Amino acid sequence: MKVGNEHYRTIWLNKDGRSVDIIDQRWLPHEFRIVTLNTVDDVAIAIRDMWVRGAPLIGVTAAYGVAIAMTNDPSNAHLDKIWHQLHETRPTAINLRWALNEMKSLLEPLPESDRPEAAYTRAAEIAAEDIELNRSIGRNGLEVIREIASTKKPGEPVNILTHCNAGWLATVDYGTATAPIYMAVEEGIKVHVYIDETRPRNQGAQLTAWEMNGHGVPHTLIVDNAGGHLMQHGQVDMVIVGTDRTTAQGDVCNKIGTYLKALAAYDNDVPFYVALPSPTIDWTVMDGVAEIPIEERNSDEVTFVQGRAADGTIATVRVSPEGTPGANPAFDVTPARLITGLITERGIAKASAEGLKSMFPDRR
Ligand code: MRU
Repeated sequence: MKVGNEHYRTIWLNKDGRSVDIIDQRWLPHEFRIVTLNTVDDVAIAIRDMWVRGAPLIGVTAAYGVAIAMTNDPSNAHLDKIWHQLHETRPTAINLRWALNEMKSLLEPLPESDRPEAAYTRAAEIAAEDIELNRSIGRNGLEVIREIASTKKPGEPVNILTHCNAGWLATVDYGTATAPIYMAVEEGIKVHVYIDETRPRNQGAQLTAWEMNGHGVPHTLIVDNAGGHLMQHGQVDMVIVGTDRTTAQGDVCNKIGTYLKALAAYDNDVPFYVALPSPTIDWTVMDGVAEIPIEERNSDEVTFVQGRAADGTIATVRVSPEGTPGANPAFDVTPARLITGLITERGIAKASAEGLKSMFPDRR
């Protein structure tokens, strides 16, 4: 997508053919900074400390991390070591394990001398595939927006609520939950997006709002607690969110707070859709609540907030009393029964074991 007049992806290989550059998302929306990742340790820190984030982008960054590591030491022992090092960075997004397994299964049978080049080629393919998946999700999700626009809201904007950032910043380009929104805008359909601020890290306020601003999508920022009220008053026509891991029975693990939005949507008959690229399906897990590991992040993310101070500096300030402990589960699970549909690259699946099986008979 564009930043100013220039097209950017969130990650790209540098001219040296070895290091990668990323948009360092810690500073958005206040500063647009690019940093270079030269080593696998750089990659691990960038994922763990959320310089890059969003399930698909975490996977692609890890794939490049493997490629960088292969240029130093292409041995099996090193491949194993960095698989574990990168896998430990963030436990919930399944795209991380998926991308690491893609790389490992490709590289292991190859002679060591061929591994670096093969690794960069596969990492680039995974990045390119991500964009194509998102475009297909966009086309499939667009049909839902088109339908609501023509049947329920002729001439009026379709109000879409989203949580966290499942936009182009969370992927290589285009986004998952945002792809149908961008396509609707391109097609001239009127849309308006309610953006949940998404405490504690504020991905909605900082990242989704920046994306919507940058692409001229009408939007309003709301606090996380406002969605239910807006739904009760008919101000939300549909919800679209992303996912970090979706189970084989269609339970969706996504940013903390997604579950509460799904409950409110269910209670108010608001359609609740999840944009789901197939690498985000964990076919080994059925019951999301019982089986998905939920990342517990540092409580400082709860007791402090970051923003731009009046003097222009980016500041971190305490919001709670000294000594009050915080708890910071980063994701929650929305049971399949609350979900209207899973917008995949192949079409819209029912959120159920049968729905996913029939959409992906080759994958289960
Ligand atoms: O903690 P984050 O910012 O990595 O969480 C991101 C999300 O929860 C997204 O909704 C999800 O990864 C899907 S991104 C297409």
